[in-house]
Amino acid sequence: MEEVEETAPAALRDHSVVYAPRIRDLLARNGKVFRIDATTVGVSHCDLMAEIVAARPVLPTERSVYKPAAGAEIPHDSATRTIRALGQDVTAAIRTPPPPTRALSGAWPYAATSYLRRWLYSSDPLPLSLLSKRGVTRSDALSRIVDRAVTIWPGSEAAGRSTALAELIRGASDPLDRKQAIAMYRRASATLCDGVAALAGNALWLLRQEQERDGARTPDRQTPRADLTAVLWETLRLLPPAWMLWRNGGDAYTGLHPEIRPEDNVALLPLLMHRHPDYWQDPLEFRPERWSGVADPEKTPAFMPFGFDGARCWAKHLVVPLAERLLATALDDGLVIRSPRQDAPVPLRSLLSVRFEASVGA
Ligand code: HEM
Repeated sequence: MEEVEETAPAALRDHSVVYAPRIRDLLARNGKVFRIDATTVGVSHCDLMAEIVAARPVLPTERSVYKPAAGAEIPHDSATRTIRALGQDVTAAIRTPPPPTRALSGAWPYAATSYLRRWLYSSDPLPLSLLSKRGVTRSDALSRIVDRAVTIWPGSEAAGRSTALAELIRGASDPLDRKQAIAMYRRASATLCDGVAALAGNALWLLRQEQERDGARTPDRQTPRADLTAVLWETLRLLPPAWMLWRNGGDAYTGLHPEIRPEDNVALLPLLMHRHPDYWQDPLEFRPERWSGVADPEKTPAFMPFGFDGARCWAKHLVVPLAERLLATALDDGLVIRSPRQDAPVPLRSLLSVRFEASVGA
């Protein structure tokens, strides 16, 4: 990882993270609408972002969870069934005791991703539970084998306690429906576990930096439980996992700004908007108190950790409570960041997440 130059502006060295060079370049840009390259325009202007999101619906190919599967678009009713099932599974998990916290030791955010998968989906009988196993999801060949196994034998209710996502596979009405339900299980569980792990990891890092700055001895444990919700909203502002939203082609947006041409792609940048001094007081300060008493944080201007109306996240109501439960478990049981002490890397990925090693106990 390249070193950040001594002269790097404060905005690039905030909270002791070292962003990948391309994120760093974006953070160094001054304007709210700027050209990133010959075919991409970056936008961090609050009103323009809202207009762009509202200008046209997201295309099926721009979607992540609900992009086409098994050669066909995902019907709206099966999309809503999936989100309902995901909600049932998250609610059930929040009510059950989590796995032992020592399983959170290791390289973050991966340790947390595996932990969440175990917590939420390990009750599914084989071969279903393999759909969310990290060792499998990282290999296309293994994923294909598991998909085939699940298609032939999606388990039986008698085989074990099952998640609602698994029930959708078993209850599929025809082969296409079943194939799509399998894709939905894999994508929804991955999006949930990866996103929540990134969010909780970013929060742990920001809390640690605050602790170092304050010089207190064990403030992690002193963080009042009620404040964790505010910690997570402040993390969603400063280190939002969904840091960039992509739109293919500028056709629908050309009338909205002279910089955007029909052939351009548009990168919407919540990461930049969330720390712009025109929108926020002391933008680089990690101040969870900002969110105390704020009934609906998403109504805050220039804040879009879960998108704007027109493409708002369907799972936003699940993400923060699950991340809060994970964070509370980690802090209660003394999970500590071991390394690095400073300058943790934030690589260029679709989810923004700080990389560090953590372990439980002294
Ligand atoms: C930490 C976790 C998550 C974050 C930070 C997040 C964030 C976002 C953001 C920023 C958008 C707007 C995208 C855009 O305008 O291009 C969005 C849209 C969406 N999200 Fe999430 N999301 C998370 C988890 C999930 C999960 C677990 C699911 C469902 C399984 C989900 C389903 C959706 C859907 C359906 C949309 C609407 C766009 C579409 O129709 O494809 N999200 N999310």
